[in-house]
Amino acid sequence: MELYTGAVDKGLEGVVACTTAISFIVDATLCYRGYTIEDLAEHSNFEETAFLLWKDKLPTESEYNEFKSHFVKGMNLNAEQVKALQSLPFKDVHPMAWLRTAVSYMALWDSDSQSIDEEGRQRVSLRLAPKIGPLVALLERTRQGKEYVPPKENKSFAWNFLYMLKGEEPDEEMVKVFDTCLILHADHELNCSAFAARVTSSSLSDIYSAIVSAIGALKGPLHGGANEQVMRTLLKIGSVEKAEEWVKEALARKEKIMGFGHRVYKNGDPRAKILRGMSESLTKKTGQSKWYEMSAIIDKTVQKEKGLLPNVDFYSATVYYSMGIPLDLYTPIFATARVVGWLAHIQEQYSKNRIYRPRGQWIGKEGLKWVPFSERS
Ligand code: COA
Repeated sequence: MELYTGAVDKGLEGVVACTTAISFIVDATLCYRGYTIEDLAEHSNFEETAFLLWKDKLPTESEYNEFKSHFVKGMNLNAEQVKALQSLPFKDVHPMAWLRTAVSYMALWDSDSQSIDEEGRQRVSLRLAPKIGPLVALLERTRQGKEYVPPKENKSFAWNFLYMLKGEEPDEEMVKVFDTCLILHADHELNCSAFAARVTSSSLSDIYSAIVSAIGALKGPLHGGANEQVMRTLLKIGSVEKAEEWVKEALARKEKIMGFGHRVYKNGDPRAKILRGMSESLTKKTGQSKWYEMSAIIDKTVQKEKGLLPNVDFYSATVYYSMGIPLDLYTPIFATARVVGWLAHIQEQYSKNRIYRPRGQWIGKEGLKWVPFSERS
């Protein structure tokens, strides 16, 4: 077998690892199942987008109503689950670490958790995807010493997430903004976490194991963990006046500026453009335009100094901050949305599976012989 070594130690840059019909990036355009992200952000909602990603078509009205009803009902955690999850340690635990364990734990209540046949996959997906947000909300309420809030069946996923998090009915504009964030984060071709999910499912392991792998991959600051770091950076800089100087100094120290750069987009991330507008209007609405102004200066300076453009994580940070969401929940919220993309990838992987098993190029020592301690230095 001839080995391709062109991408060795380059993070598989430019390597096509599989065929996919879920989402596609061309230049600065992102499409889910053939629909542009701008179109979906303007007209769709998270439940409909999940249906689209899973079923490869927009739902009819009756399909949509049925799917939405199942999806929202699927948000509820039963009393036994709530009690068990509340007993998990959470002090000094990052919510992504808690979430990774909580998702793994949820498999123990799912009698279908080991089934990967077509019907089992559908049942597990519809049970697991709507639970990620409620798990995040439960963690937040538990660490605040507050009770679990069950979802309301006649409301949307976005509405319910904010309600379950804060315990009060959310502002409709915030719901719309949050719903759009969920759409924008729902899938992204063969990103690191989707690939991790596909690698795990390629051994014909179960869906929960694949989602736990994906959560672990998303957690890192080079992937989903960047959104939290963006807001920490803005808070550290502190004022609009210091922003430009801070960027120049950080670049001179060869530091990476979180929320900038992308492996695939070289002409800008289309999601960042939509989020920038949302950040501007939301920070204005909440009287915190300073964070948008600071972001805009950082954006301009990084482009000028380094030629890098913002990615999805840059402006989503100030959107979540304006919504009063704790910083360490930004990446779990990314997972709340991305889980539907992961599940689409897992389903696609099972449907035409061959185990992922690349090769390593040997650069180590050869021909050594074992010797006893007395002969070792
Ligand atoms: N700030 C400063 N410099 C950056 C940068 C950033 N955010 N992103 C990339 N660069 C620089 C690198 O230092 C490198 O410079 P060099 O050639 O002088 O060494 C060059 O741009 C190429 O970057 P590289 O890290 O090799 O690109 P990649 O394709 O491997 O990584 C990211 C892509 C997204 C991981 C990378 O841009 C990054 O770390 N960004 C910050 C984290 C982030 O926002 N992640 C969320 C992604 S959606």
